[in-house]
Amino acid sequence: MKTNSKTLVMFYSFTGHTKEMAEKQAQKYNATLVEVKESKKRSKLNAYLTGCVQARKQSSTKIDAVNVNFSNYDHIIIGAPIWWGLPAPAFNSIVEMIPSGKEVDLFFLSGSGNTAKTRNKIKQVLSRRNLKVSKYMDLKG
Ligand SMILES: Cc1cc2nc3c(=O)[nH]c(=O)nc-3n(C[C@H](O)[C@H](O)[C@H](O)COP(=O)(O)O)c2cc1C
Repeated sequence: MKTNSKTLVMFYSFTGHTKEMAEKQAQKYNATLVEVKESKKRSKLNAYLTGCVQARKQSSTKIDAVNVNFSNYDHIIIGAPIWWGLPAPAFNSIVEMIPSGKEVDLFFLSGSGNTAKTRNKIKQVLSRRNLKVSKYMDLKG
């Protein structure tokens, strides 16, 4: 990473763990912090029933509009919680927004702190959009 590069941290958090980590990352890199929210508020029950199925299918979800000019950033960090082994649907919505060709760092919060089994599936979503994953972090939370 260049020393004068501008960093963007974009994240979705359901219960606050990813948010806490995203805030730390933003401080570390003096970054712009953008929280992505689902347009329809999800109940815990819905997260476990519908949300997990969406995560499993690697589907996106409707999110509130965010006003980000991606061309202002050369370092993009995306954070999300893991649901049923894969990132929560809002992660896929974030990925869909990032212009092709960008390099991104990923961090995921999960109870196990381990996404070894699904890491390749997660990276495929990025490579399909021609995004290069430079850093991948699994965090327990
Ligand atoms: C709907 C749902 C599904 C989850 N599925 C998993 C899972 O498959 N594996 C795991 O290790 N943790 C799982 N967790 C735990 C979360 O990934 C973990 O608590 C994470 O820190 C939550 O991040 P957040 O507070 O930013 O939402 C799940 C949590 C929820 C709410």
